[in-house]
Amino acid sequence: MTIVAPAYILTPSKILRHKAVAFDTKIQKIAPLEELLKLYPQATIIKAPDQLLLPTFANPHLHLEFSANKATLSYGDFIPWLYSVIEHRENLLPMCDRSCLDQALDTILTSGTGAIGAISSYGEDLQACANSPLKVHFFPEIIGSNPAAADVMYASFLERFHQAKKHENHRFKTGVAIHSPYSVHYVLAKKALQIAKKYDSLVTVHFMESKAEREWLDSARGPFAKFFKDLLGQSRPVNDPKEFLELFMEHRTLFVHMIWADEKEWEMVKSMDATIVHCPISNRLLGNGVLDLQKVDPLPYTLATDGLSSNYSLNLYEELKAALFLHPNKNAVTFAKELIERSSTEGYKALGFEGGIIKEQAPADFQLVSLPQDLQNQEEIYLHLILHTSKPQAVYIEGKRHGT
Ligand code: BEZ
Ligand code: FE2
Repeated sequence: MTIVAPAYILTPSKILRHKAVAFDTKIQKIAPLEELLKLYPQATIIKAPDQLLLPTFANPHLHLEFSANKATLSYGDFIPWLYSVIEHRENLLPMCDRSCLDQALDTILTSGTGAIGAISSYGEDLQACANSPLKVHFFPEIIGSNPAAADVMYASFLERFHQAKKHENHRFKTGVAIHSPYSVHYVLAKKALQIAKKYDSLVTVHFMESKAEREWLDSARGPFAKFFKDLLGQSRPVNDPKEFLELFMEHRTLFVHMIWADEKEWEMVKSMDATIVHCPISNRLLGNGVLDLQKVDPLPYTLATDGLSSNYSLNLYEELKAALFLHPNKNAVTFAKELIERSSTEGYKALGFEGGIIKEQAPADFQLVSLPQDLQNQEEIYLHLILHTSKPQAVYIEGKRHGT
């Protein structure tokens, strides 16, 4: 048994003072230090009088296979970015070998994230994810708008799905990623979702990320018209967005982006078992705008970094800072608390893992962060945590200390 005695604990919905946490792989008891010392006289004690203890975060949407990108891909506008992905992916993918993947996973872990949703286009990241101490919901992705290629694309998806299934345990789960309504033929999406139904898998989909996607799916116009004509010889979209959404009615789904969703689509998503995944930095860099969080209410939402294909970092503290500044109409103090809760408890829940919360019998997944010494107003602790942290001082997953 180990006992950690910090200055503050963020559960994170509550702020606890003068409490310590006794843990092995799970949190066994939360009580004043003196009480825990009597209960567990043999325990190792970690005194952390200048530190704050909070759960590790969840980052439910990233693309690890693109982790070699720094400045190869074009930012600023979605369609030039997509062209640049197609142009450079053959070079970028092999550049992210096992050591690159391990480094990305290590950055995630040591920056305070304990659970991820890894969207896998090719399966190259499977071994690294399966061997990582992180909790991983691994999502083999299906893509393909051309019906002539549908069988090949489906076979590839199915193979990657079953390979991932072999690694399942309490910290590795397999889900299904449907790339998007513009890039996955209706029949193909339906077939992949039948697999999700059969195995009761969590589903994820990029939906209404760009204005170009909105225009193409609504009217076969806009910059996607040239893209589809030149690259795929298509003049019509392969989905009506509402019919496409209907496919997700019976699934637990993480809807990623949603910036350009219309009223009817929001209404449909709100009738589903849905969580919205908000990626503010990726959206900013690709020129997609800012998700209106008022439209999300009352659905749960959580933050994610997306991949290094559209972000400079996989550190969730960067995403928290960006979210804080990209929603200027929200009160900074109350919104900071909301963001911390969404990124821990809500994120773990969205991925289907226990954790993201400091309570007895929860897994001992938490981080210790140094605290500004001049904190005056306790309720501002969430805001100062976001403003003053770039990395925690220690991260524990199932009671084991990692990194730093
Ligand atoms: C496709 O594979 O059909 C596709 C991929 C990316 C964007 C659009 C379509
Ligand atoms: Fe993405």
